[in-house]
Amino acid sequence: MATEKLRLGVNIDHVATVRNARGGDTPDPVRAAVLAQEAGADGITAHLREDRRHISDADIDGLMAALSVPLNFEMAATDEMQKIALRHKPHAVCIVPEKREERTTEGGLEVAREENHLAHFIAPLRDAGCRVSIFIAADQRQIDAANRIGAQVIELHTGAYCDAHAIGDFATRDEELEKMREMSAYAHALGLEVHAGHGLTYDTVQPVAAFPEVRELNIGHFIIGEAIFRGLTPAIAEMRRLMDKVRE
Ligand code: PXP
Repeated sequence: MATEKLRLGVNIDHVATVRNARGGDTPDPVRAAVLAQEAGADGITAHLREDRRHISDADIDGLMAALSVPLNFEMAATDEMQKIALRHKPHAVCIVPEKREERTTEGGLEVAREENHLAHFIAPLRDAGCRVSIFIAADQRQIDAANRIGAQVIELHTGAYCDAHAIGDFATRDEELEKMREMSAYAHALGLEVHAGHGLTYDTVQPVAAFPEVRELNIGHFIIGEAIFRGLTPAIAEMRRLMDKVRE
């Protein structure tokens, strides 16, 4: 299992953040996505937030038209987003929790509490041929619920692990990593495909990439930031190299 190629999904939301800071057309996230694809990204991730703070509806149109790699469309479980997803039918939809006041997606989705609603919500997306992924914490209760509602994929939230690393709290970091390791194996044994992401950097990616059950990592903020210093193509190439090295 460990020899399977680990896919890298590049999240281009923060190219749109920079564009929107000035309200014009540049930098264009679709251009960044095409460049990321040429640089070896196996997929592109974009989150259309309810408040459109970064990615816009027009960006999603542009991504659908321009990409040959799969688009992973991140969205909240709202009627508006469901309609948009059903219109575009992207390769994958990743259901995430969304709060207006948060700076980024802070936690995983409470699937267990919303099981009925989410089961009905994702059914038409699955019927339309989208792979449905649920962004959750490494918590058995949430994984069981994701499995029961018919999701094909879970994406484990790596934020707590990365935050603990960033502040030098290595005991918490290692605990978070251990939870993710156990829950990757648990979810895989249930037949779910396992992805992971949020906050990953060159320093934190390898221990997660080493989990044999993880098939895809979605990484954005760090890569886009690093692109300022070394360019987008080399920034992606280095992430790819680090990921591939641990799977050798
Ligand atoms: N995966 C999901 C589900 C996310 O919501 C995000 C952030 O939008 C990411 C991955 C990427 O996180 P980051 O931009 O911190 O690398």
